[in-house]
Amino acid sequence: MDAAALADLALDIAREAGDLARRRREEGVAIAATKSALADIVTEADREVELLIRARLDEARPDDGFLGEESGAERGVSGITWVVDPIDGTVNYAYGMPHYAVSIAAVEGEPDPVTWSALAGVVHNPATGEMFSAVRGGGSFLGSRRLAVSEVGEAGGLVATGFGYDPATHAGDLARVATVMPLLRDLRRAGAASLDLAYVASGRLDGYFERGLHPWDHAAGALLVEEAGGVVTGAPGGRPGRAMTVAAGATLHARLVEAIGL
Ligand code: IPD
Repeated sequence: MDAAALADLALDIAREAGDLARRRREEGVAIAATKSALADIVTEADREVELLIRARLDEARPDDGFLGEESGAERGVSGITWVVDPIDGTVNYAYGMPHYAVSIAAVEGEPDPVTWSALAGVVHNPATGEMFSAVRGGGSFLGSRRLAVSEVGEAGGLVATGFGYDPATHAGDLARVATVMPLLRDLRRAGAASLDLAYVASGRLDGYFERGLHPWDHAAGALLVEEAGGVVTGAPGGRPGRAMTVAAGATLHARLVEAIGL
């Protein structure tokens, strides 16, 4: 199966999963558990949506591996692993804010943060109906419209960030914000990493940086940015990951990396 076919499968599954998430949201959402921190929550809908995605992938591609935020990892034998966040932006979702996403990526090999490379990725916001997708080497799209990152020059830029769940890292996160903010037009903390990356790909944001992301937060979104002509790196300079993720067009990316001190 080629990368475009993997993307088509991800699109179909994301649409069905998004419909389920939206229906559950309309019925009313309760927080099922608080995990590592007050902001690290899971709802029954997160679990149900992940089960649906996993079942659809099992039917269509039984030999592939799986890595999901709620149900963990399972090795496959095909060389493809699906990396899934059923509801990215769970806090927004639980509070009724229409800024959350189903994120599905097909990654070549095991999802090893150093070497992995997504072949196809989809980020779908069920509340707005927006469907972002990318195929390695085939471009990045919102629906059928091809996307390109913005190119910010020496000044300004609307940049998003986020705060990982570990309270021990928050002082460092805020110090980083204080350092970077004077360089920017403004800063956002919208609450869904996959959509932050999709917005960089589409030029709605000029850049994004965050410490503490997991593979399911950035697997699809990073491909969206790269296929829209942007640069996504981690620390120092490697693939995005827990230590840091920085995404932007080339000029702003270099300025952010320098300002953050990577
Ligand atoms: C979280 C969101 C948030 C980011 C956190 C993520 P979740 O994902 O993407 O914006 O700041 O680092 O973990 O828990 O809502 O799936």
